[in-house]
Amino acid sequence: MRGFVVSELKHHSEISLSSNVPEPKAGPGQVLVDVYSAGLNFFDILQSQGKYQNKPPLPFVLGTEFAGRISKDSPIPEGCPYKPGDRVFGAGQGSYADKVAADLERVLPLPDAITYDQGAGLFVTWPTSYEALVGRAELKPGEWVLVTAAAGGVGIAAVQLAKVLGAKVIAAAGSEAKLDIAKRYGGADYGVNYSNPGWQKEVLKLTNGKGVDVIYDPVGLINDSLKCIAWKGRALIIGFAAGTIEKVPMNLVLLKNVSLVGLHWGAYSKFEQERVPVVWKALLDLFSSGKARPVTYSEIYSLEKLSDGLAALERRETWGKAIARVREENDSRL
Ligand SMILES: NC(=O)c1ccc[n+]([C@@H]2O[C@H](COP(=O)([O-])OP(=O)(O)OC[C@H]3O[C@@H](n4cnc5c(N)ncnc54)[C@H](OP(=O)(O)O)[C@@H]3O)[C@@H](O)[C@H]2O)c1
Repeated sequence: MRGFVVSELKHHSEISLSSNVPEPKAGPGQVLVDVYSAGLNFFDILQSQGKYQNKPPLPFVLGTEFAGRISKDSPIPEGCPYKPGDRVFGAGQGSYADKVAADLERVLPLPDAITYDQGAGLFVTWPTSYEALVGRAELKPGEWVLVTAAAGGVGIAAVQLAKVLGAKVIAAAGSEAKLDIAKRYGGADYGVNYSNPGWQKEVLKLTNGKGVDVIYDPVGLINDSLKCIAWKGRALIIGFAAGTIEKVPMNLVLLKNVSLVGLHWGAYSKFEQERVPVVWKALLDLFSSGKARPVTYSEIYSLEKLSDGLAALERRETWGKAIARVREENDSRL
């Protein structure tokens, strides 16, 4: 099969697609999935260079997120709700390939309303944004939400979900083009460009001086955003895309009764397993009803051009989820 194999640790631009990769073998409790689309993540860029916390033994196939169909030759573990041919999405090491092995608990049914491209970027981003806004910030209808990197993978999901929850959403991003995306595909009410100095004044003006009730921040802009938070505001710490882990002056937290709230979705499977299916049920209902729609970047990459997609992610050019299409819906090889 084809696969993007890391034989020695190096930058993705120095790796090319292999055409004679051995097919993965399913371990206990795993299924085999024919990959149709794979999601591109920044951590893939780190993993190929040995700079990510998860370090598979060499050689390994890169990629984690996928959408596809249960393979004809997949084992069906006890209690598995799927049969060969079923449409699924999820995560498993080695998704930049024709076939991947995945733990059953990391595989979910792909709703009919969702394409493979859309499904390949769901597994990490959407539950992160849902649990942050619902489970951690306890967002209420009518509240003001500021989302930073609002056109990015987790950001645009947060914008859509905050709107579904009845909030007023201010999208913040680094360019006017990305603010347009957050409005057009996310439904944001307003946009503020945080590359303009003093952008917080715009937020205060939009909220009639009150400030925002919730900050959703995957960038590392908590200190800057606290300048426009409301009394009893909640600041969600989602990530550090800008590369720096901030130190927050605690007087700012005290002065306005602010709550700093962390969210690590990946840790729910260890600390709060029972919450995981609750979040997925809510999300799958939103997708099936069309109230939420995963957003994919306009350029879809082939497996051969995967490195171009990862480079675009590195250059901060992409919006929504960047996707590699591994095979077409009516692939004759199946
Ligand atoms: N807590 C969790 O459980 C969890 C789960 C998933 C992801 N995350 C984290 O959330 C962050 C965003 O993930 P994502 O999938 O949304 O990524 P993404 O789609 O690549 O979006 C990241 C965005 O961050 C902004 N940004 C600002 N400064 C940047 C810089 N120096 N380099 C790169 N980007 C910069 C860019 O938007 P602008 O150009 O508009 O500034 C960029 O598009 C990551 O740090 C990820 O690790 C956390």
